[in-house]
Amino acid sequence: MSVRAGLVGVGPVGDRIVRCLKERDFPLAGDLCVAATRARTETLGDEEFAVQALSEDDFENSLEFFEGLDVVFFAGREGAKGASATWAKPAIERYGCYCIDNGSDFRMDPDVPLVVPEVNMEAVTPDTKLIASPNCSTIQMVVAIWPLHQAATIKRVVVSTYQAVSGWGGAAQTELCEELERLLECGCVDNCDPSIFPRPIALDCLPHIDRFLPNGYTKEEMKMVNETRKIMGVPDLKVTATAVRVPVQIGHAEAINIAFEKSLDADTARQILSDPAQAPGVVVIDGPTDDPNAIEFRNAPEELQYPTQADVLRDEYKDMVLVGRIRDDETVPHGLNLWCVADNLRKGAATNVVQIAAQMLEQGILG
Ligand SMILES: NC(=O)c1ccc[n+]([C@@H]2O[C@H](COP(=O)([O-])OP(=O)(O)OC[C@H]3O[C@@H](n4cnc5c(N)ncnc54)[C@H](OP(=O)(O)O)[C@@H]3O)[C@@H](O)[C@H]2O)c1
Repeated sequence: MSVRAGLVGVGPVGDRIVRCLKERDFPLAGDLCVAATRARTETLGDEEFAVQALSEDDFENSLEFFEGLDVVFFAGREGAKGASATWAKPAIERYGCYCIDNGSDFRMDPDVPLVVPEVNMEAVTPDTKLIASPNCSTIQMVVAIWPLHQAATIKRVVVSTYQAVSGWGGAAQTELCEELERLLECGCVDNCDPSIFPRPIALDCLPHIDRFLPNGYTKEEMKMVNETRKIMGVPDLKVTATAVRVPVQIGHAEAINIAFEKSLDADTARQILSDPAQAPGVVVIDGPTDDPNAIEFRNAPEELQYPTQADVLRDEYKDMVLVGRIRDDETVPHGLNLWCVADNLRKGAATNVVQIAAQMLEQGILG
């Protein structure tokens, strides 16, 4: 069984989708068809691709890109003129392809499933042609908290994020490097590209991701609230978020405080999250370590180990959600604190959409 697949968008997420398809031996029928706003040759993964142009001004010709494709991964930009808003529905109507979208345009549409395979793959049926993948910070949080919700029913979540610049897009990684160079050369960064971040990000943290909304929260924070409720199927779940951009290239971290209805202590939470059958996609890094590489960075070998953003770049962790610092919240009944990190470009985006397609294949929806 093999699948004719397309990719729209060749930024860091598009690049990681190509890598994930290859690493997972996704059964492609023929070459992956690739499109962006301009035609050119691009290296994605380690392969060169002829990128086709999609243009609204040449709508009919551009739409032919989708002809014959079974599934299309969207990794373009969002908004009214964005990739999935322009092309997904016409491609479905004209050619019947399944479209899996990394962007936010359709996430809260009641007719579009919002899917994290470890949590709610059952939301995808043969009739759901358009499938949305959540925001990167939402994905890693629900992978970590869903198994705990199964065990003790979550009442409330308070989350603070520490999000890498690559969450904005490829241009933000260049912006951080350039600002850091100027900082080293001149001792300060007095300007920045305001189309990326509102203030310099070099050696600073910005509690501002996406636009501010009338309620004082940012769009990113409300995405975490609303998407978590939709994925977990708990429309009135209490979730409150503070989203912070930090000068890290890749990898989002989150400090999560959870209140449960039933009792769940830190040891039990650690056991649940350490069991791949109960907590697929999670790796617990929490407790004393005997890893000599880990000890090298610490004063005392008995110190607790914990994951950081740098760990998600390691090959064995790049598609996982790493959880540590699991401890009882001693200020409330049935409260827990934990820390989680994941690669925002992989599990936060590319890996999630490739996993969705792979499971659709397994379930006979695709192929
Ligand atoms: N970065 C993350 O951590 C993350 C996590 C979860 C979800 N996402 C979402 O994933 C998507 C891609 O992210 P990214 O970081 O790779 O973005 P990016 O660096 O901005 O790249 C966007 C790509 O999409 C193409 N594109 C934009 N508008 C298009 C249109 N109307 N038609 C066709 N192609 C179009 C661009 O084409 P050109 O190259 O020709 O300009 C570019 O190749 C975004 O929707 C983002 O919100 C990102």
